[in-house]
Amino acid sequence: MGETRHVPVLAEEVLHFLAPSRGGRYLDLTFGGGGHARKVLELGPRCQLVGVDRDQGTLAEAVRGLAEFAERLSTVHARFDLADVAAAASGIESFDGTFDGVLLDLGFSSQQLEDPERGLSFERDAALDMRMDRSVGETAAELLGRVSEQELADLLFRFGDERRARAIARALVERRRHAPVRRTLELADLVERVLGGRRGSRTHPATRTFQALRMAVNDEIGCLERVLEKAPRWLAADGRLVVIAFHSGEDRVVKRSLRAAASSGEIELLTRKVVDPGPPEIAANPRSRSAKLRAARRRSE
Ligand SMILES: C[S@@+](CC[C@H](N)C(=O)[O-])C[C@H]1O[C@@H](n2cnc3c(N)ncnc32)[C@H](O)[C@@H]1O
Repeated sequence: MGETRHVPVLAEEVLHFLAPSRGGRYLDLTFGGGGHARKVLELGPRCQLVGVDRDQGTLAEAVRGLAEFAERLSTVHARFDLADVAAAASGIESFDGTFDGVLLDLGFSSQQLEDPERGLSFERDAALDMRMDRSVGETAAELLGRVSEQELADLLFRFGDERRARAIARALVERRRHAPVRRTLELADLVERVLGGRRGSRTHPATRTFQALRMAVNDEIGCLERVLEKAPRWLAADGRLVVIAFHSGEDRVVKRSLRAAASSGEIELLTRKVVDPGPPEIAANPRSRSAKLRAARRRSE
């Protein structure tokens, strides 16, 4: 793994909404580098925290970095939408009505994005893997070899907002007839050829294709929809749910799910509009640029 350290995004706002100074039990469903978790544990000296991540290596490394909090920290290796099931299997008591705060900080951590083994970057040659949990599931190369041209075009459009999805899907299917696409640079070159270079854009033409594939490989939207169905139930009365999304497709799901839970009376929204980082945070941590935070609180009945 590289030297990059993940800087927690919107940390002040997360602490504001979770308010861990009150003590209590917290569930960090995207433990990552443990950046947000550390802040919660530092600010609330009586807080207990359960950290969940589907990436076993990330989880182990974060636990090492938080050794001083070992007595107040437990971890679960699981996809977050199945965290309750996995926790029950490892003897952690039921999640229902348990937590004073639940945090979701979506997507990949900086360490994961920089890890050359994962094949997430169109700038570095690597096998096209893209899985968060490399112990299960299909790699991006396998997915590209399996899906139909129509499915490919749909996923590029849906997850990447790629307007030229059809043309890219056609070229990919044409190419795999004689040679499968297995490496990041093969995919980046192919997309660049289809889209005709950068044409003055600041972003690489393959940016949207890589994002879409990564989201499909990890079923990112599906996991998010399912966890947001469950998370309000995991909160104790007055418990807080904080979600940070990184692109509009994700934020649409968060907004829709929180509104549905609010209209059924389960939760109350704490953010009318999305909260985003100010210019100083963006300057200090460019990865925060697209962050969108929403928060809610469980009604006391
Ligand atoms: C943006 S990072 C979180 C960083 C963390 N908040 C910090 O401050 O260090 C997202 C983490 O969530 C994990 N993750 C993303 N989707 C997941 C899912 N569906 N289930 C479990 N973990 C997931 C990723 O493996 C990654 O480590």
